[in-house]
Amino acid sequence: MTGTPSHRPALSTNPDPTADGVLHLTAAGVSLVLDLRSPGLPAVLHWGAALGDLPPEELLALDRVATMPEVVGVFGPVPRPGLLAEHGAGWPGTPGLTGQRHGRDWSPLFASESVDVEDGTVRIRAADPTARLGLVLEVELTDSGLVRLRTTVRNDHPDLPYSLDALLPSLPVPGTATELFDLTGRWCRERSPQRQPFTVGARVREARRGRTGHDASLLLAAGTAGFGFGSGEVWALHLAWSGNHRLLAERLATGQAVLAGGELLLPGEMVLAPGEQYTSPWVYGSYSDQGLDGVSARFHDDLRARPAHPREPRPVVLNTWEAVYFDHDLAKLTELADLAAEAGVERFVLDDGWFRHRRHDRAGLGDWYVDETVWPKGLHPLVDHVRGLGMEFGLWVEPEMINPDSDLARAHPEWILATGGRRPDDIRSQQVLDLTHSGAYDHILERLDALVGEYGVGYLKWDHNRDLIDAGHHPGGEPAVHRQTLAVYALMDELRRRHPGLEIESCASGGGRVDLGILERTDRVWASDCIDALERQAINRWTGLLLPPELVGSHVGADRSHTTSRTHDLAFRAGTALFQHFGIEWDLTRKTPAERAELARWVALYKQLRGLLHSGRVVRIDHPDPALWAHGVVAHDRSEAVFALTAVATPVASLPGTVRLRGLDPDTVYRLRPLPPGDTASGVDRARPAWMTPQGVTARGSVLERVGVQAPNLHPEQLVLLHLTKA
Ligand code: DGJ
Repeated sequence: MTGTPSHRPALSTNPDPTADGVLHLTAAGVSLVLDLRSPGLPAVLHWGAALGDLPPEELLALDRVATMPEVVGVFGPVPRPGLLAEHGAGWPGTPGLTGQRHGRDWSPLFASESVDVEDGTVRIRAADPTARLGLVLEVELTDSGLVRLRTTVRNDHPDLPYSLDALLPSLPVPGTATELFDLTGRWCRERSPQRQPFTVGARVREARRGRTGHDASLLLAAGTAGFGFGSGEVWALHLAWSGNHRLLAERLATGQAVLAGGELLLPGEMVLAPGEQYTSPWVYGSYSDQGLDGVSARFHDDLRARPAHPREPRPVVLNTWEAVYFDHDLAKLTELADLAAEAGVERFVLDDGWFRHRRHDRAGLGDWYVDETVWPKGLHPLVDHVRGLGMEFGLWVEPEMINPDSDLARAHPEWILATGGRRPDDIRSQQVLDLTHSGAYDHILERLDALVGEYGVGYLKWDHNRDLIDAGHHPGGEPAVHRQTLAVYALMDELRRRHPGLEIESCASGGGRVDLGILERTDRVWASDCIDALERQAINRWTGLLLPPELVGSHVGADRSHTTSRTHDLAFRAGTALFQHFGIEWDLTRKTPAERAELARWVALYKQLRGLLHSGRVVRIDHPDPALWAHGVVAHDRSEAVFALTAVATPVASLPGTVRLRGLDPDTVYRLRPLPPGDTASGVDRARPAWMTPQGVTARGSVLERVGVQAPNLHPEQLVLLHLTKA
């Protein structure tokens, strides 16, 4: 999300913000109040619920109402948290800027020089003439109520470089935020939530993998005790960056607390020459008094407001990976394309295995030429066939990687990231191509450009299957993660510039690169290599905290999952994938006509619902029985909604109780009905609730929220779909 027109000045001050000494940004139920009176950096008087249209004197009174003065002899000056914590101002916690110049200038204290507002961005310029550093803080409040924040530091010394170690913009959270929430994960089990009390000390989530990481915390959130999807006050941070990073939640012994985030710079990675500057990635802050769903909705709204947000209906995908793996055969793939088109697929994606030497995953990465031994006429026969069936053609690539067993590695061993006079161990038999070498960058750009051009590729599945370890630049071995990350961004941006309309999927062994930095230049993420529907219930739920469903790829796989060996009914697999960007990753050539017809019914349902699912408000329900999950999407005008009621395990109670549906219009009377083919779950016939009949039942929105709808008695790993329309 760049500074697009979706970000507007949300100011209630006069055109010269410094005249009032206070700046009030407010939008969508959020206020951010900055105190500009001090000669130093502005303090944050409030980030949280909207305060209304208060006059400047009342805003400034926040200082007297809610801030403790210095108590001499008891405790020293208590600086109010600002947008960048300063040790020199007496902040005893983690400083926002750390660095040094030959052991000096390590504790800057900035004096504010100017504050201006332009196109919705507040720019605070400051300098420390002693440390000879300049600073620019940029703050925005988007229409959806998200705070965006980034910092630039400039080396003003005429002769000496400045070695920057960290730049961590921050936002304060109040003492009422007593619980922390973040996410972790691993390959095939991305995005597992973790909670802990927000006590004194620092909770630091770092990523040193050179990519966002399967274990990355999409959000670091602090909230009031027991906050859930629909309740409690929550303050959350996200960092829009795809390289190494650090998120921090810190509570001081004074009780003050902040959330902070920035790039994690490797030793010596950011040495600023005289006059040079560094800008941190954007940090996003989302506040809500309606729990995690409220936090999430702000991200969804902001992403959807981007000019570049995909607005065409998200096409049904057939991805060949779990259907054929490396076994590329034109006749087989042609038949797969025929059956895909018959089922209603709109985009056919040829996965790994099409290029030179790539008969398995141990060779070929880097040799981005169609393998003439498998494809003597190039990809044209397949591409033409796919197009002839009315489908778009997509292609898998992994441009940042190189197999030592490849022509490219043999020709350019110096293009492999390494340091310390050694080469990192292979992971999946591969190394990382150093895109900060202009030769490597130009070569990859030329290859991708040529392939996209020759085959009219509409969609690239852009993979990234190993961490960056010892990622040094040849020949000196200097750390290269920062520049590599920027090079990847530049590569994607340039390709999209040359091929308008080209869509890119961010895949990194599944969900290893999910962040708003990569999403500035990609159109969906592959949330996980695990398409076991039970795992995907969780992975999709938590990935969806940050991303709206249309940006998350979710596929129907084989009856028996290739990654977990669990077996699931089609209704469970398809009903799980239905809500996101729906696809199929399954060898349809081995399925009976009846099975394919059943799949086609799900494809048709997705096409019928995707307008609603990909524009409405996402709702996740807190249900007392952890075995029963419910989530749904409510149309913006609240005239229609779809919910999935899912048994993720065996419910404890024999009667599962009601599910209270949030987000509906309290005054509207809705008709509730099961939504075929999502009405056939096993277990329901033991006791079918009244709404699970073709004519359904009617009820008012307020009743559905306060009383709820009776859940059916599902067998484990079964789901039913509930459709609500205005009666
Ligand atoms: C990892 C991806 O996540 C899979 O979907 C598949 O594309 C393989 N790589 C191909 O090697």
